[in-house]
Amino acid sequence: MKSLRECIKDAENNKVAIGHFNISNIEMLWGIFRSAKNLNLPVIIGVSEGEREFIGIKQCTALIKSIREEFDYPIFLNADHTYSVDKVKETIDVGFDSIIYDGAKLSCEENVKNTKECVEYARKINPEIIVEGELGYIGQSSKVLDEIPSGVDLEKGLTTSEQAEQFVKETGVDLFAPAVGNIHGMLRNTKDPHLNIERIKEIRDACGVPLVLHGGSGTPDEDFVKAIDAGVSIIHISTELRVAYRDALKLSLQQNPDEVAPYRYLKDAVLAVEKVVTERLKLFNKII
Ligand code: G3H
Ligand code: ZN
Repeated sequence: MKSLRECIKDAENNKVAIGHFNISNIEMLWGIFRSAKNLNLPVIIGVSEGEREFIGIKQCTALIKSIREEFDYPIFLNADHTYSVDKVKETIDVGFDSIIYDGAKLSCEENVKNTKECVEYARKINPEIIVEGELGYIGQSSKVLDEIPSGVDLEKGLTTSEQAEQFVKETGVDLFAPAVGNIHGMLRNTKDPHLNIERIKEIRDACGVPLVLHGGSGTPDEDFVKAIDAGVSIIHISTELRVAYRDALKLSLQQNPDEVAPYRYLKDAVLAVEKVVTERLKLFNKII
């Protein structure tokens, strides 16, 4: 079975992107896995600090490992947006496949210093672990938004190619997540703003490592394809799954008010997650 590093290389060579999907529970995991397996595509499961505390940190690794082994399948576990070096070390110690140190809100110097410490620790424990760094603030929550998150500047706040080049050189990260017009969360009644495709290309060329696009929910479909062609190799989706899961669960409870077995009333929520993931994976892999 291919390693995550090899899957990322393949994605780059084939000009496609690996889907990274966040989970809060095992139902979401099954919805995502079923979809990826049907399409025979590698997949990354992300858990933020809150998500992994809810599931259990060691339980996250046990779940992914058990699916990987049972199905001999390239499914990987990422410690998404981790705000302290100690928490990064904790996920490395319990066997996550990749980690993201999120210092986007810190000064550039502090972000570089902490990210570098994470890279050094990961290399020491297991050189196969993929480390991602990020520069540029795009908001912090995967939720439905009424406006662009405060603190996000879609023009002056974008990461520059010079910043990206310096950050990657100084930290040694494997992957880089820039601010290129993307936002965490998705706008309520309209698509999110367009991505700056030109900037993505410049950053990819300057920094020399594959790019990760965060805040995928709500992004116009055509922008995903252009972003992949410009150098994005992994795309994160969370809010769209949360909304699909919640809406399907709400409807299921309304339609079956006497049902008390979670494995019955949660069935449609799993299917709803699977549907979103399938649509996204087809787009990211240019499957018509
Ligand atoms: O790390 C998680 C993501 O970047 C998800 O963003 O909720 O806008 O899809 P999203
Ligand atoms: Zn993110």
